[in-house]
Amino acid sequence: MYDYTQALRRSEASRANGHEQTDVDIRGETWTILKGVFSPAHHNSSLAQLDLLEFPVGGSFLEIGSGTGLIAVNAGRAGCRTVWATDLNPAAVTNTALNAERFGVADAMTCVQSDLFASLTAAPLFDVIYWHSNNVWVPQDLEIKHIHELAYVDPGYDAHRRYFAEARNHVAPGGRVLIALSSRAARADLEALAEKEGQRLTGVRSAVVREPEGPVSYDLLEVVPLQDTAPHPIESRRGHP
Ligand SMILES: C[S@@+](CC[C@H](N)C(=O)[O-])C[C@H]1O[C@@H](n2cnc3c(N)ncnc32)[C@H](O)[C@@H]1O
Repeated sequence: MYDYTQALRRSEASRANGHEQTDVDIRGETWTILKGVFSPAHHNSSLAQLDLLEFPVGGSFLEIGSGTGLIAVNAGRAGCRTVWATDLNPAAVTNTALNAERFGVADAMTCVQSDLFASLTAAPLFDVIYWHSNNVWVPQDLEIKHIHELAYVDPGYDAHRRYFAEARNHVAPGGRVLIALSSRAARADLEALAEKEGQRLTGVRSAVVREPEGPVSYDLLEVVPLQDTAPHPIESRRGHP
């Protein structure tokens, strides 16, 4: 099992380096990053997952845990008609709204502070729901010292259990529930949790990236009801160095 203290150290290092508000270059474009928000400029996972995703162009997209808004704002730029972005961390909600303004998609976007789906009572049903989750397991009773740690770790996988239980209530007929995991996640435990909620995890696409700790696989998975037996092939793609 992945040593979760590494994830907590990455959160601490990221917080220590941050300014209140920074402009960073991401693939030749300038994005705003606020202190205490998960930075796609300093982790490979966000861009690796962006490359694996296909947006429902002309449709609706919900991102849970939007952080800086890299994914949700790009959904708006790709032509999604309606984009909702939520995060538990209020700084992330502000950060997503700032980048939505910067890239001219604020009119298509609704940014909401929410613990998963809790504040989405007035939201529409979505064609695609996506969460690049804090998929490193830590014990349920671990003391969380800063909300930023919840960008990396999920105590007792409680938020994942709720995602598997609740996401289908927010998806339009024929829509898809996606989750972005990595090989740092305790995959067998997540699969068992999904199954208890009547769901299974099926691979959509994967990319392997060389990280300081060694190769890490970033995996885009679909959360599918157990009774849905349609095959979902796994493709492999190269990630960013
Ligand atoms: C790995 S980061 C991904 C950030 C961003 N989507 C990206 O790709 O750069 C996970 C995000 O999920 C958020 N998060 C964690 N638990 C959450 C919850 N229960 N409800 C909503 N957001 C949550 C974190 O605050 C964090 O912004």
